Amino acid sequence: MCGIIGFTGDCPAAPLLLEGLERLEYRGYDSAGVALLHRGRFLVSKTTERIGDLKAKTDKGRALKGSIGIGHTRWATHGGPSAENAHPHLSEDGRFAVVHNGIIENYADLKAELQRHGIEFSSETDTEVVPNLIAYYYKGNFLDAVLRAVGRLSGSYSLGILCCDYPDTLIAVRHFSPLIVGLGSESNFLASDVTALISHTKRVAYLEDGELAVLNPNHVEFYSSEGRPIHKESSFVNWDLAAAEKGGYNHFMMKEIMEQPRAVRETVEPRIKNGRVVFEDIGLDEERLKTFNKIAIVACGSAYHAGMVGKYVIEELLRLPVEIDLASEFRYRNPIIDHKTLVIVISQSGETADTLAALREAKARGAHILSIVNVVGSSIAKASHSLLYTWAGPEIAVATTKGYTTQVALLYLFAIWAADILSTAPKAQLEEMLEGLCRIPEAIEACLEERGRIKDMARRSCYIGSIFFIGRNIDYAVALEASLKLKEISYIHSEAYAAGELKHGTISLIEHGTTVIALAGFKPLADKLISNIKEVKARGAFVVACATEGNQEISNESDEVIYLPPVHPLLFPLVEVIPFQLYAYYVAVCKDCDVDKPRNLAKSVTVE
Ligand code: F6R
Repeated sequence: MCGIIGFTGDCPAAPLLLEGLERLEYRGYDSAGVALLHRGRFLVSKTTERIGDLKAKTDKGRALKGSIGIGHTRWATHGGPSAENAHPHLSEDGRFAVVHNGIIENYADLKAELQRHGIEFSSETDTEVVPNLIAYYYKGNFLDAVLRAVGRLSGSYSLGILCCDYPDTLIAVRHFSPLIVGLGSESNFLASDVTALISHTKRVAYLEDGELAVLNPNHVEFYSSEGRPIHKESSFVNWDLAAAEKGGYNHFMMKEIMEQPRAVRETVEPRIKNGRVVFEDIGLDEERLKTFNKIAIVACGSAYHAGMVGKYVIEELLRLPVEIDLASEFRYRNPIIDHKTLVIVISQSGETADTLAALREAKARGAHILSIVNVVGSSIAKASHSLLYTWAGPEIAVATTKGYTTQVALLYLFAIWAADILSTAPKAQLEEMLEGLCRIPEAIEACLEERGRIKDMARRSCYIGSIFFIGRNIDYAVALEASLKLKEISYIHSEAYAAGELKHGTISLIEHGTTVIALAGFKPLADKLISNIKEVKARGAFVVACATEGNQEISNESDEVIYLPPVHPLLFPLVEVIPFQLYAYYVAVCKDCDVDKPRNLAKSVTVE
């Protein structure tokens, strides 16, 4: 959450900072600000609106002089969205300016301590202790003061820091919060992620936890947390600006929905060689695979829903018990795992704080960690024993779409790969699934072609107050994701229920006209689902079913049916979710909601 950017170079900094902040806005967007250092003074501009307002206020940055600066787009944690709480924060003496992503957990103690020294605070944020602590330790050496101050901080933080006495120098600090350094020509950047600086440089260095970087226009030095100079390799980002732009669509979400055939194809195809799944450099061989007696999947939100599909499929193909946990629960529940457990961690951003903490917990207990991650070089990617990247490309819309489908696709590949090695499923079944997986991009394309129909359906239902999604087995896993998609961007109350569970309480909410969406892709339980449809119909529900083409029975029992192309029965989630991503999108557009930046949310949840 929160996006930070910094620049030091030989040209006006403010326009670059604002451009970068616009690309980081998906990380948090309740207020924003920039601070430029010009002739020994800070020029600060803030807004409690979006970055567009900051651009308007500053004449697209032209009104702010200076070739060094920092910027921030905020997702509020400590103190509501206000000008006082917006970053950058200055030390009381005006010598230091700081932008921060993360949470300083011991800020209250530090604040009290600094107050005892007579320092006054002007915001409710945890961040404001940072510039004041640096100022407190400052004896003329910028880096020394930063090192002493960060040595006192606990929690998660990435920081961009300026000092009035150092007209070209920007210090970056990373501790459990993402931060990269962009290496340009006569200019250098820091940013929360690559999208913010890809239009200026593709050469980046990823800071590790505890590391610092001192940026000047012509050189960057890296330091350990003890202040020891360290060498850092840089790498090139292998995607370009177009991937991080809307490309003619009105919203990133629609662009990303439409990109799914490509994203799934690119995630799956390179990993299939001669009819078998090949994971190069996965760091998990047959011997180690045979030692696991259970698998635990941990993730948050949609990634958890992807994991839920994985649980059903892996159990089916591997005949190993698979537990699935929300990362925020797993990390505090004293889980029973050891070196015989394979823990699969799923995260698009690779930075989700709870997921990362769950990973560390599992690692400390001896489990082998296999992560499924989209963002290259992210914290989760780095902390894992084994790693599989979803090659979805950058995902900007807060609501995940291609991130989710590529996670699900990789889980299928993993299950097929492991079942093949361990011989836990018939070869013919695995071959059939693999062939089916290769045809999924076409099937997704076919679903996307039907978007006009989904748009009509969305228009008709966009003012309903509440909606229920039901399904069994893998359809239930999709129901959870379909329901989340709708509620998070359209603000319609939505519940997902295992179809057989509805009658244990929730069915009392069904009344005349309540919309129930019944996901009926999982053929072995189709009859059971039809009974559940009858139960809600009997109570007046309006039922929309989702099934494969030609399923006449479901059509007889429902008010409306969304037909999907036939795919392998176990692979159905990969197509079944598509109409409901579209449905959520069109409902949100119809209600004039901010599709890419839904209220109260942020893309990368780097706080607990
Ligand atoms: C919902 C959504 C979130 C994320 C969750 C985990 O559309 O995007 O629920 O799935 O915050 O994020 P990652 O995958 O980055 O760990």
